[in-house]
Amino acid sequence: MRWIGVWVVLAAGLLAGCGPDKSSPVYQRKQAFKQMLRHKEAMLGMLNGRLPYDAKRFAEEMRQLQGVSDKPWPLFTELDSSHAGQDILLQPAAFRQAQQHYQQALAALAAVPPDEQGEALRVPFKAMAASCQACHDRFRIE
Ligand code: HEC
Repeated sequence: MRWIGVWVVLAAGLLAGCGPDKSSPVYQRKQAFKQMLRHKEAMLGMLNGRLPYDAKRFAEEMRQLQGVSDKPWPLFTELDSSHAGQDILLQPAAFRQAQQHYQQALAALAAVPPDEQGEALRVPFKAMAASCQACHDRFRIE
């Protein structure tokens, strides 16, 4: 009986070792990015016709995107086991600038009053999405 207990403890330990460490900054920043992606995709869907355009829902997705958009940056404390490029630590000013560029594009989008078709949102939405991409091109690695 005692041996069975030992095996159970060992197996549990192994399983815990394999799963993601949910308290790690790498895990947490990836979760934040996934949320950002979800809101951005919902907004894109409403602007390209994949989803019906709904000004109220768009505003809500926007609000949630803004809410999560400052979460990832303080979590870049370690780069191991991630897709974060070395330049994040080597060129912190450039990384900060890419964050600011994104936050400005996001604020510009949020400042657009919603209209019936979302027409006015397309150009500033594209600029916001381009600022995600610009940072990925520079600071995210394969
Ligand atoms: C200032 C730089 C920067 C901006 C702006 C940025 N990202 Fe990222 N993003 C990164 C970096 C760096 C990684 C790699 C993180 C890692 O592997 O730890 C990443 C990773 C991701 C991931 C993958 C997460 C995972 O599970 O591995 C997604 C999805 C993502 N970003 C979405 C977005 C979206 C959507 C936006 C804009 C709304 C955005 N990002 C804006 C730098 C940025």
